[in-house]
This record gives sequence, structure tokens and C-alpha cells, in this order.
Amino acid sequence: MRPTAQIAAQSHLRGCGGMTRANRKTAVVIVREAGLARFFKDSGKGMNDSFNTIAGWTLGGGILALGLATVSSHYFLADKHERPATMGYAIAGADDSAGGAAVAVEPIANRLGKADAAKGEATFAKCKACHTIDQGAANGIGPNLWAVVGDGVGVGRAGYAFSDSLKGKAGKWDFDTLDKWLTNPKAFAEGTKMSFAGLTSPEDRANVILYLNTKGSNLPLPAPVAAAAAPAAGAAPMAAAAIVGDAAAGEKVFGKCKACHSIDQGGANGIGPNLYAVAGDAIGEGRAGYAFSDALKAHKGVWDAATLDQWLSGPAKFAAGTKMSFAGLEDPKQRADVIAYLNSKGGKLTLGAAPAAAK
Ligand code: HEC
Ligand code: HEC
Repeated sequence: MRPTAQIAAQSHLRGCGGMTRANRKTAVVIVREAGLARFFKDSGKGMNDSFNTIAGWTLGGGILALGLATVSSHYFLADKHERPATMGYAIAGADDSAGGAAVAVEPIANRLGKADAAKGEATFAKCKACHTIDQGAANGIGPNLWAVVGDGVGVGRAGYAFSDSLKGKAGKWDFDTLDKWLTNPKAFAEGTKMSFAGLTSPEDRANVILYLNTKGSNLPLPAPVAAAAAPAAGAAPMAAAAIVGDAAAGEKVFGKCKACHSIDQGGANGIGPNLYAVAGDAIGEGRAGYAFSDALKAHKGVWDAATLDQWLSGPAKFAAGTKMSFAGLEDPKQRADVIAYLNSKGGKLTLGAAPAAAK
């Protein structure tokens, strides 16, 4: 470093050949701040070698310090939540427009089956600037991540000060939510202070999630989802389809759904999507941009009486890996009623013998 520093200083002293105007200014500022400006006053008049050496060390050190300052401000400002969009801690290959609408991503359940925790540990190097992972390790820019898989979103973590954005998310970090989060943190929680662009590679995400799971969580991995699972018409009980539902009774049943779903036209998405006009609509699509699980998105077709009936009798059976955490309605009559109610809210289905009266 010494020769380089000396060359830099000497070239400066020779009239700053090779330095840009901005660099020159910077160098002067550095030197002035070091209280050495006077040494440079008559830099054109030639100075002895020992001075050149001192100046070289000083200037070289200054440039190095400036470089470090730039790097570290980049680093530390990454946590300033005032400017999350611009201070992004971009990591190799990450893409802000993540979503990859055109490319079908394999469900996380299937990717986990092939994932490699050792590779995940290597990928975790990208997280280490902000996160510790070992049990009892300190929070840094981000919280310690020991046993985070299965833990509540944005809570605990030895009193870590989460953003309101992440605190506002209900639920737990399951494999699917982690996959979404790590694809694009800001898309998952707008206003999060995790200034990390995301991991674009679905395999990298699976590896790192598997690695996180080995650190204190050890949750059982989800069962793989059948590729392009068809709605399997005829394979499942169609009890409800044979029953003429009662929309008024269904409205009462819908009390069980309200914690997660709004139903009126234009109602906001909550934990689950708004369900206005869902009867007859495409499965796992639209709903004002609601972020469906890959499991549900993998289903093709529309919500007719039969698919709704299967879904509502056991969501996880219909779409393993769905994020609708609802055990299902055992009673076929209740399912028929709630389907009639859904259909009365903007639906397009003709149900049984008597179409549900629109309300
Ligand atoms: C630039 C710093 C930074 C990097 C890099 C980073 N994170 Fe974070 N992370 C944060 C911050 C800050 C939070 C808190 C977010 C909030 O409160 O909105 C956070 C939160 C999290 C959470 C939620 C914890 C909880 O208890 O709710 C997880 C999980 C997480 N990060 C995983 C990762 C993984 C995995 C990586 C690497 C692939 C990573 N992070 C990279 C800063 C970072
Ligand atoms: C604990 C929250 C929760 C409860 C309770 C709940 N749901 Fe859901 N629902 C969800 C989530 C989350 C999704 C998205 C599933 C996915 O993407 O895998 C969903 C999806 C759906 C869909 C698919 C929407 C579409 O456009 O593809 C329908 C239909 C639905 N729910 C109906 C109901 C009905 C009817 C009830 C009550 C009997 C109910 N849900 C209870 C959370 C819930």
C-alpha cells in the first residue's frame, strides 16, 4: 500500500494528473481535515522526498478512509427505514421486479425436498451482515434468527424493534411465507426495514430456508405437491353439490370465514383474499393482486360447486401447502349453504335445481 499511496500523492503534487476534478476536491478536503493543507500550499514548487512520503501516507490514508466511509455508510444506512427503496442492500442478481409472472416456480414444498442445508449456509453469508443465527446471539441490524421457522412474524426476538409493517403481519413464518419474504421483502411487507432486495433463485431460497429450519426449529417439511394437480372432477365427494344450499344459512356459516375474508364488492384482501364474485371465478388468480400460495396457483380451472365443495371440506387436501389455515367444514349442508351464500355475492354459478336467490 505504501508505494501506491506515494504514487497517488506524487501525482497529486504534480498538478493532479490523472485525478478527476471531484477527486482533487476530495483530496483537498481530506488533507485540510487532517490539518495538513498548509503543506500543499506551494505544491508546485517541489518538495523533498521525505515530505512526499509523509504526504503520500497521509493522502493515501485519506483516500482509503474515504473509501471505507463510503462503504460503511452504504452498509449502515442500509438500516435507515426512512429511505428503504433507495438504500436497498442489493445482493447479487436480485431483482426488484421480482414476481417472475412468466416463469412458473416450483412450489416451496417440492423445492425443500431437493434443498441442501449446507448450500443454504453458504447463501446465508448474504444475510450475515445483518443477522446472527446461533442461539442467544445478539440482534444486529436485523434480529437474531435462531428458531425463526414456525415463530410469529415480527414478534419476540429478544425485544428487537420491528417495523410496524412487519409487526402488522399476523401469523407465523411457515415455509411458504418465508419463501415469499425472501423473494422480495418489500413486496411481502411494504415499509419493512429489511433493506434486502431478495433472493431471485428459488433454489437459493429453498436452501436457505432449510438451513434456517436446522437452526432451532426442525419443523417437519411439507409434503410435496403433485405437479399440475388437476381439480380431479368426480374423484371427491360431491355431497354438497347435490344439496340445494340456503344462502341465508350460509351467511351464518360465513361467520367462520370472516376472520380472514371480506366478501363485499371492493372489500380489502386480508389474511385471505376478498371473496366477492369468487363463485365461477378462476382458482387462485386475480383478487386484486392477492399473493396466493403456489399450491393454490397450481390449480387450474374455476371455482364451481364441485371444486368449492372439495376445497371447503379440506383446504389442505385440495391444495397441499395452501396458506388457508382452516380445517374445513365437515357438514355437507354447511358447505352447500356457504357456497350458495358465496354465489349470492356476485357469483356466476347455477346451483342445483334452484339457483341461490341473489341478495
Ligand atoms: C441489510 C440488512 C439485512 C440483510 C442483508 C438481511 N436482512 Fe433479514 N432483516 C433485516 C431487518 C432490518 C429485519 C427486520 C425487518 C422489519 O422489522 O421490518 C429483518 C428481518 C428478517 C426476518 C424476520 C424475523 C422475524 O422474527 O420476524 C427474517 C426471517 C430474515 N430477516 C431473514 C433474512 C435472510 C434469510 C437473509 C439473507 C438471505 C436476510 N434476512 C438478509 C435486515 C437484513
Ligand atoms: C385462517 C384464515 C382463513 C379462514 C378462516 C378461511 N380462509 Fe379462505 N383463504 C384463506 C387464505 C390464506 C387463502 C389463500 C389460500 C392460498 O393462497 O393457498 C384463502 C382462499 C380461499 C378461497 C380461494 C379464493 C380464490 O380466489 O382462489 C376461497 C373460495 C375461500 N378461501 C373460502 C373460504 C370460506 C368459504 C371460508 C369459511 C368457511 C374460509 N375461506 C375460511 C384464509 C382463510
